[in-house]
Amino acid sequence: MIFLLFIVPLLVAYYIGHRIFVQRKTFTGTANLYGKTVIVTGGNTGIGKATAAAMAMRGARVILACRSKQRGEEAAQEIKMETGNEGVIFMQLDLASQKSIRSFAETFLKTEPRLDLLINNAALAAPGRTEDGIGMILAVNHIGPFLLTNLLLDRLKKCAPSRVVNVSSCGHDLGTIDFDCINSHKRLALGSSDGDLFKAYTHSKLCNVLFTHELAKRLEGTNVTCYSLHPGSVRSELGRDINEWHTRIIKAIVSKFWATDPVSGAQTTLYCSLQEGIEHLSGRYFSDCQLVQVKPEARDDGIAKKLWDVSEKLCGMA
Ligand SMILES: NC(=O)c1ccc[n+]([C@@H]2O[C@H](COP(=O)([O-])OP(=O)(O)OC[C@H]3O[C@@H](n4cnc5c(N)ncnc54)[C@H](OP(=O)(O)O)[C@@H]3O)[C@@H](O)[C@H]2O)c1
Ligand SMILES: *[C@@H]1O[C@H](CO)[C@@H](O)[C@H](O)[C@H]1NC(C)=O
Ligand SMILES: *[C@@H]1O[C@H](CO)[C@@H](O)[C@H](O)[C@H]1NC(C)=O
Repeated sequence: MIFLLFIVPLLVAYYIGHRIFVQRKTFTGTANLYGKTVIVTGGNTGIGKATAAAMAMRGARVILACRSKQRGEEAAQEIKMETGNEGVIFMQLDLASQKSIRSFAETFLKTEPRLDLLINNAALAAPGRTEDGIGMILAVNHIGPFLLTNLLLDRLKKCAPSRVVNVSSCGHDLGTIDFDCINSHKRLALGSSDGDLFKAYTHSKLCNVLFTHELAKRLEGTNVTCYSLHPGSVRSELGRDINEWHTRIIKAIVSKFWATDPVSGAQTTLYCSLQEGIEHLSGRYFSDCQLVQVKPEARDDGIAKKLWDVSEKLCGMA
């Protein structure tokens, strides 16, 4: 009786959580990347590092675009040792600083002849504002990659067929875009409790999906394609700024039962980066190495265009 009352519902909940959150497929493509150059933002840890290592394994020249010199250089060293590929390089990029993004792009364009894949992987869920006066989450998760992508677009076009891949999250499904809040506060949501940070994080991930939608349109006919994706529920450092006790408990339970390792979390990024024959799906969203239809707000032409215009203003491109 007790078994039926407690254990069975627990097992069912575990199974359902697992089906929903955990990545199962492994990307099996054997694309050879010799002579190709890949940028992975936040490539020093978590999903980004696993992605960078997989690219290096396939022979690519890999640029780890990271904010910390020490963490970036250590990761580059480890990936070189692990893959035997000497072409793994750290370049400083702090997505919370538009100055840093511009200087990264300048250095990259000057020193590297090619760009075949740009993987916008870095993200955070932390409070505060950047030196440019923008809410931290809006800046790092959306405006930063927006500016970076735009600064590198000509190089991507020259090296076409090339791709831009945005690591979003299934959390985007809970997000909305509050243009009043963006315009008046340069933030996605107000407040700094864990709940507020989580909200702003889901909004920022919706921005990623909307941008991919708009960018795909702007790239039509260039042979540069773009994709956004959910990596699965992955054990990483992502929750490092989430600190209230009840959210820490939820985090601990989720990561114990419903999360996988970063290598499995990199599979859909690899799929979107390397799978042949998905070019006609440019602008779409993927999860578990499959196309997934997003909610209407996440593929609304008007909202995507409006967000693009606001973003241009916030990074001084307009
Ligand atoms: N883990 C999950 O379950 C999950 C689920 C859905 C979506 N995602 C997405 O997957 C992506 C990777 O996350 P992860 O789980 O691997 O997280 P992670 O372990 O926290 O890695 C995030 C990376 O982003 C970098 N980063 C943060 N702020 C930056 C800045 N201002 N400038 C440059 N780089 C910065 C971090 O650098 P430092 O090491 O210097 O801090 C780190 O390398 C994110 O886009 C996230 O939204 C993750
Ligand atoms: C990725 O997301 C950023 C920020 O949301 C956006 O600026 C960029 O155009 C997007 N790129 C793709 C391929 O979706
Ligand atoms: C895109 O690729 C196709 C097929 O390889 C090619 O015929 C076309 O010229 C390319 N277009 C551009 C703008 O590079």
